[in-house]
Amino acid sequence: MYPDGICQVREGYYSKVVQYQDINYQLAQEDDKRAIFDKYCEFLNYFDSSIHVQLCFYNYSGRIEDYQVAIKIEEQKDAFNDIRQEYSQMLRNQLAKGNNGLIKNKYLVFGIEANDYRTAKTRLERIELDIFSHLRGLGAIAQSLNGAERLHVMHDLLNESQHKFHFDWKRLKESGLATKDFIAPSGFDFTPTGSFGMGRKQAQVSYLQILAPELSDELLKNFLILESDLAVTLHIQSIEQTAAIKMIKRKITDLDKMKIEEQKKAIRSGYDMDILPSDLVTYGAEAKTLLESLQSRNERLFLVTFLLMNIADNKRKLENDYYQTAGIAQSANCNLRPLDYQQERGLAAMLPLGINPVPIERALTTSATAIFVPFTTQELFQPAPALYYGLNALSNNLLMADRRKLKTPNGLIIGTPGSGKSFAAKREITNAFLVTEDEIIITDPESEYAPLVRALEGEVVRISINSNQYINPLDLNLDYSEEEDPVALKMDFIFSFIELAAGRKSGLKPEEKSVLDRCIQLIYQKYLQEPIPENLPILEDLYARLLEMSEPDAKYLATVLEIYVKGSYKVFNHQTNVDTQNRLICFDIRELGKQLKKLGMLVIQDQVWNRVTRNRAARKTTWFYQDEFHLMLREEQTAAYSVEIWKRFRKWGGIPTAITQNVKDLLASREIENILDNSDFIYMLNQASGDQEILAKHLNISKDQLSYVTHSGEGQGLLFYGNTIIPFTDHFPRDTKLYQIMTTKPDEV
Ligand SMILES: Nc1ncnc2c1ncn2[C@@H]1O[C@H](COP(=O)(O)OP(=O)(O)OP(=O)(O)O)[C@@H](O)[C@H]1O
Ligand SMILES: [Mg+2]
Repeated sequence: MYPDGICQVREGYYSKVVQYQDINYQLAQEDDKRAIFDKYCEFLNYFDSSIHVQLCFYNYSGRIEDYQVAIKIEEQKDAFNDIRQEYSQMLRNQLAKGNNGLIKNKYLVFGIEANDYRTAKTRLERIELDIFSHLRGLGAIAQSLNGAERLHVMHDLLNESQHKFHFDWKRLKESGLATKDFIAPSGFDFTPTGSFGMGRKQAQVSYLQILAPELSDELLKNFLILESDLAVTLHIQSIEQTAAIKMIKRKITDLDKMKIEEQKKAIRSGYDMDILPSDLVTYGAEAKTLLESLQSRNERLFLVTFLLMNIADNKRKLENDYYQTAGIAQSANCNLRPLDYQQERGLAAMLPLGINPVPIERALTTSATAIFVPFTTQELFQPAPALYYGLNALSNNLLMADRRKLKTPNGLIIGTPGSGKSFAAKREITNAFLVTEDEIIITDPESEYAPLVRALEGEVVRISINSNQYINPLDLNLDYSEEEDPVALKMDFIFSFIELAAGRKSGLKPEEKSVLDRCIQLIYQKYLQEPIPENLPILEDLYARLLEMSEPDAKYLATVLEIYVKGSYKVFNHQTNVDTQNRLICFDIRELGKQLKKLGMLVIQDQVWNRVTRNRAARKTTWFYQDEFHLMLREEQTAAYSVEIWKRFRKWGGIPTAITQNVKDLLASREIENILDNSDFIYMLNQASGDQEILAKHLNISKDQLSYVTHSGEGQGLLFYGNTIIPFTDHFPRDTKLYQIMTTKPDEV
């Protein structure tokens, strides 16, 4: 084994390994399935007869150590370690509820003949690049394994515990040992027939006898979803096209010869010479279609060996596992047979080395080989500091994702009332609060986040007509934007504010904008000269300026503002007095009433924008949640402004999340494309039937996927993470303190 991952398996033969992640095949639309299948056929055809290919699938159960490490939440020096513990415990329980840490790994091994290491390296690396590009075309993320990683993979297959692999190249050199010493189990015990002992485990290699000419694309998947220790390997050796054709022609000649023999026999015995053994007839016909497809279609011929190895703690369990796998083969019209007298060779063929000493091969065309599609369903398990989003509904694996890693971390949480949107937001907030040091801000129009925020010692700012906590809509941040004039950007906001205040659907007239522009420039002059908070204008200043203008439009605008300056809505006519350093802030705006709520949300959005810019300078991430986001989408102007801000957040290290129950408003908004295109994270809960079709069209999801958001229970749905779409379920345990402070069910509050 060389450190770069090239292994000289024997004299003149070298191989390399690529590990790849799964993609969604089983749940994909029919069209997409076909496209994947076709691309996979193309991929197989890429391999010529000089490259030996091996696909490896290693499933290990009961190895949850890796997962436990990944979900561990470190204690911190604050007051929340008890909550951290509860959340940790919840995660551990979810992990246990899943499939006990079934780890599934997929590898592609490719090997070539070469005279020496250098020639092998050049060629293998070129092939590897091609493999990467094919896999990328299929949507699968792949990585090359280095020497130590390859050894680790073999160690894991041969030993029951994966945590005892201690290897480094220096130790190897100093110790005088061979690489084999680092990966071998304590011993092997091969007997002629039956299973063999491997360390403390029992194992048995079987081969798949492919009888049916047409197989289902589910066979491989059905093996791989078993929750037991299992390794499956496919050795694929392409045959050179002319050799393949010659081979089939020879077979046809053989069959013809046999036919003549049979006919002669028939005549001699005095019966009809057209009566032939039926096998001879079918084989003849099959060979002819095979020849035809090789000559006329884009098909090649491969020699395929399909091997499967069961591994268990004892013989009884092994036998059970074997019968289970044999049953799956049976139901696909194939036979699974133990490799009697060849277990040791079988084990060698199972290892990711790219050699196949088992001489049981079946010639298959490209499409027949491709029916063992090496893809099933996607998983999402990112390393810490990833957050928890439920369990994969298909595999029961934990979904751990880090939104920061997305191109646009912007998120949407959508679902019918009561489907669990706010709950999901609260869970994410808690999780982010416990594992990061990020800042979190919430706009809360229904006053339901306060218990959670208080439990985390965050600050609840209540904005209402009667409260004395104020935020000034005219606050200006001078680092607002690098290239733009801060006042110009503020202008957009004030326009939106006044449009909303005036109840205009159509926006402001150009004359109105001009006069506003003049006044706004004037009221900020003092602050721009000396930027201290006291110099910031408030609405009253704008109002006074407008009154000074001679245009009738100005008078009109002043009248619009009057109620916000002198009348009952003057909550926005004050300097900001909530300047909190708390990393968790919730703006409770329930008491603002219907008209003011939208304004309130707009003003808060603007405030948050200020904070995001400040946090960016401190290299801090800001999470921003807006519940009941549809209120912002009803009016075109606020929608446009919100989306604009939304797009900017990303560049400034903000992670905004919009929560809405009103998918109709969302879908009817002109900004829908803008919103969906700029949200790489969508947490989709139960959907009304009317909305489903439109969503399916916009997001390109299949019928099978839609079924996960049809009449689904609370906390069940589809998670969109970049290009990954995964059905999830999240049943948060009700007997926890956290549940008590997150629920909104009246009888539980
Ligand atoms: N993942 C979950 N696990 C357990 N219970 C949940 C989960 N999600 C939601 N629930 C339950 O469902 C209730 C309603 O959820 P939530 O308040 O989040 O609904 P919503 O979608 O925000 O509704 P609305 O649109 O009316 O605001 C919660 O109070 C909680 O009891
Ligand atoms: Mg809600």
